[in-house]
Amino acid sequence: MSTALYPGSFDPFHVGHLDVVEQAVVLFGNVVVAVMHNPDKPSGVLTTAARVEIAQIACAHLSTVSVQAFAGLAVDAAKSVGALCIVKGLRTPGDFEIEQQMAHTNFAVAGVRTVYVPCDPAFSYVSSRYIRDIAMHGGDVSALVPKTVQQVLKTHFSSRGK
Ligand code: PNS
Repeated sequence: MSTALYPGSFDPFHVGHLDVVEQAVVLFGNVVVAVMHNPDKPSGVLTTAARVEIAQIACAHLSTVSVQAFAGLAVDAAKSVGALCIVKGLRTPGDFEIEQQMAHTNFAVAGVRTVYVPCDPAFSYVSSRYIRDIAMHGGDVSALVPKTVQQVLKTHFSSRGK
């Protein structure tokens, strides 16, 4: 049994993320979901605490998964939890382009390897970006997020800015 770090902005965590976590549990045993900041997505829509809470609820049935917020670099988070590697999910060739550059960079600067898992093709279109957009307008995202988080997600989106 080893540990993998699954970093992301998870704004919010969705069915595709859960599929990646479940695959990583089979491969590595322990998985730390690292809620982090993506500098290309300047301000998270949900607070870090809300993103952690939603991911924790979504993964509650998986006893070897923990969810933590980390500031700074993914490689430092990986080292701090003793992770064997970083794990990332790939939906499309576009994801591969982005992830490959990050994976090479993380290995070059810190010797931390990245393992990719292919996302379930049924979820290849699912993206936090559109979930945010729909949820912020009061739309129905129940097909895109785990059943267990639907209510808490609704509450967080409806209380934004209040
Ligand atoms: O879910 P996302 O937004 O695609 O996740 C991107 C994330 C948060 C994993 C990436 O931006 C990241 O690793 N941020 C932490 C800072 C870092 O390590 N930067 C160097 C990347 S080579």
